[in-house]
Amino acid sequence: MENGRWSLRVICFAFFFITSASAEFLIQQVTENNSSYNLNANLGVRTVLRTERPSSKIVTIGNFSVIRDRFEPYESSVFEASGYRWRLILYVTGNKDDGGNNHVSLYVRIEDTESLPTGWEVDVDLKLFVFNARQRKYLTVTDDAVKRYNQENREWGFGQLIPLSTFHNPNQGFIVQNTVSFGAEIFIIRPVRVQERVRFVSNPPDNVFTWRILRFSSLEDKIYYSAEFLVGDRFWRLGFNPKGEGEGRPHAIPIFLYAQGFRPNAVETTTWGAVNLRLRHQLGSSPKRASSAAWYPIQPGHREGVSNIILRKDLQDGYLVNDSIVFEAEMVMVSVTIDEKHPTSEI
Ligand SMILES: *[C@@H]1O[C@H](CO)[C@@H](O)[C@H](O)[C@H]1NC(C)=O
Ligand SMILES: *[C@@H]1O[C@H](CO)[C@@H](O)[C@H](O)[C@H]1NC(C)=O
Ligand SMILES: *[C@@H]1O[C@H](CO)[C@@H](O)[C@H](O)[C@H]1NC(C)=O
Ligand SMILES: *[C@@H]1O[C@H](CO)[C@@H](O)[C@H](O)[C@H]1NC(C)=O
Repeated sequence: MENGRWSLRVICFAFFFITSASAEFLIQQVTENNSSYNLNANLGVRTVLRTERPSSKIVTIGNFSVIRDRFEPYESSVFEASGYRWRLILYVTGNKDDGGNNHVSLYVRIEDTESLPTGWEVDVDLKLFVFNARQRKYLTVTDDAVKRYNQENREWGFGQLIPLSTFHNPNQGFIVQNTVSFGAEIFIIRPVRVQERVRFVSNPPDNVFTWRILRFSSLEDKIYYSAEFLVGDRFWRLGFNPKGEGEGRPHAIPIFLYAQGFRPNAVETTTWGAVNLRLRHQLGSSPKRASSAAWYPIQPGHREGVSNIILRKDLQDGYLVNDSIVFEAEMVMVSVTIDEKHPTSEI
């Protein structure tokens, strides 16, 4: 644990170091090019111009010229966001202790932590903002690192939020009518408690279904369905048109597997179904076979199968006996989805 914190600090330190060289370039690029998204993945720092106001806090300072050269930080009022209490900490000439020379520095500090349980940790996706009044947009500064607030690290932000050369440049529009505005957006990252787990089960219980069709010669030109049978979490059924379907019509017999509804309390998702379809040879020889494997949609009624499991002319060779045929479906693999409580989730 102690090691983990230490390495986090090292990473953050390295991060500030890396950004210091290129932050100026980055900011210039953004303010010169107001396409709404500007990504520099190598640095980990993203600067975006956006129109939406920050969701957690905005601080606007009038008569800015009075304090524009001061080194003391400005601490905002306490505000609440995502169930915790925070302050915005602003250094208008930079926080020298954090590489903020010639920059504006901005941080968010967590407050009132006495009420939190010992060993508390709050993981935050943090965005900080400088308002550009000329463009009526917020320069948004963030990186891809989750900020872990804890007793030792109660303040996170950017020592080099924006270079003073950019910030003070009247053509840029960050200082308009002697007024500046900063903001913060705080999203707490709470790990998901339940994860969906998909498993594939070979030869699940009761995976062979037999369907005997009587009075074959009297059947009409339409689709006949078997009873539904449950394998895995889902009901299935067989179906076929005795007069043929698609490219097999009229000289061949088709057979299809349909995915139907789910058993009660099943987690309803797309379902994998791999099936061996057979037309039984009723005088003891080998069956006709076909197989298919597919994702079946949640919506009932999707089918997979073949339009030709046997040629009609071959039916008499022991498959059609006493005017009856027998189909078999062997579900060799199905997927089962469960919602699993994550082992490390806390209440
Ligand atoms: C502005 O951004 C667009 C799109 O990303 C890019 O094609 C263009 O070269 C950029 N212009 C400047 C001046 O950076
Ligand atoms: C970019 O800035 C120019 C000048 O400030 C403005 O006219 C234009 O609408 C802006 N474009 C976008 C996409 O914000
Ligand atoms: C502060 O700003 C207001 C409005 O611009 C102005 O009237 C006032 O004189 C300013 N006060 C100081 C001390 O600069
Ligand atoms: C067909 O019917 C005959 C007479 O009813 C019976 O003896 C025979 O076992 C039946 N064959 C099959 C395969 O069911």
